[in-house]
Amino acid sequence: MRVSENIENLVPYKPGKSIAATKKEYGLDKVYKMASNESPLGPSQKVQEAIQNEISNLHRYPDPNCTELKELIAQVQGILPEQIVVGNGSNELIDLLIRVFCQKDEKILTSAGTFIAYKICSVAADVKVEEVPLNSELQFDIPALCEKAQSDEFKLIFVANPNNPTGTYVPESDIVQLLEATKNMKNTLVILDEAYNDFVRADDFPDSQKLFQKYNHLVVLKTLSKVFAIAGLRLGYVLAREDVCSYLNRVRNPFNVNSLAQVAAVAALQDKDYLQRAQEVNWKGLDYFYTELKKEGVTYWPSQANFVLIDTGLDSMLVFEQLLKQGVITRPLKAYHLPTHLRVSVGNDFENIATMQTLRKVLNELSCDN
Ligand SMILES: Cc1ncc(COP(=O)(O)O)c(C=O)c1O
Repeated sequence: MRVSENIENLVPYKPGKSIAATKKEYGLDKVYKMASNESPLGPSQKVQEAIQNEISNLHRYPDPNCTELKELIAQVQGILPEQIVVGNGSNELIDLLIRVFCQKDEKILTSAGTFIAYKICSVAADVKVEEVPLNSELQFDIPALCEKAQSDEFKLIFVANPNNPTGTYVPESDIVQLLEATKNMKNTLVILDEAYNDFVRADDFPDSQKLFQKYNHLVVLKTLSKVFAIAGLRLGYVLAREDVCSYLNRVRNPFNVNSLAQVAAVAALQDKDYLQRAQEVNWKGLDYFYTELKKEGVTYWPSQANFVLIDTGLDSMLVFEQLLKQGVITRPLKAYHLPTHLRVSVGNDFENIATMQTLRKVLNELSCDN
């Protein structure tokens, strides 16, 4: 079968290894998955009840407009339902934004050390990707993005904030700098991907709700896969001006968001107690990792997300494989130009302690071997 050259050369997304596959491959009873930035809490009781109540309606097609969910988001954000598009995970919306707004050989701009989906979806659509390296602090280099944006035309500029896989963030002043530098470009949208914003503790993190009111070329992307713990249901949404949403709606599949995901999202977004608990568990876990990594002399980057980036000082594939054999799944970051680094998701106390114990053991064994 002949396919186009861009599809032939496309390197597919590599998801974190599953618990079941790891148990089978290494003959293990207990495996800790610290690789995909999933919630250690599981979905809230309210979400589970909402799903139970909806199950008897599964013979019906879902609401193609996600009416109730969009009304709720609109109310929370102080915007119109027409400024929202809901997707089958935010990954679907990344793909849709690229397919709708970029034609063949047009360009997007992003960082070389960020969420890989921007690149995969662009290559699949025959859209060119320009990447700016992360700065020395492993943050998005906003001055370099602004400079590039002045010298060439980019249809979409993607900034993951906080960034995956580094956990670093761009402060409000820098985001404003990027928005100001691009606001008169008729054909450019700036996309702030806020998959992890509910985990942020930094005071100078941008208030995207406020910025959205001021800059009409700003698109904000959110997901319920992380703090709200419904990654398995697939639900993300985009906030954008009405004409942008209307183009996205022309192209998206009419029933892209299933009915269980819709009711679950409505319940999740209203469950403030759960949100607070999820944040507290994550922050406690992060602080635990910082303390233990410091004791071990392992370099890490303070994180505004639900994972921590560490520099093992060794070939990260080697460390990854040794951890895997001992039942801890992490994420090596060679594909992000970070050859000695691992990304470790924050779990519950038990998972975090087991991960640290195994990491300590593996690093000691490997440094004795060297
Ligand atoms: C920065 C970022 N954006 C978007 C996503 C996609 O999230 P989902 O498709 O589960 O909504 C992820 C997932 O890890 C991510 O890290």
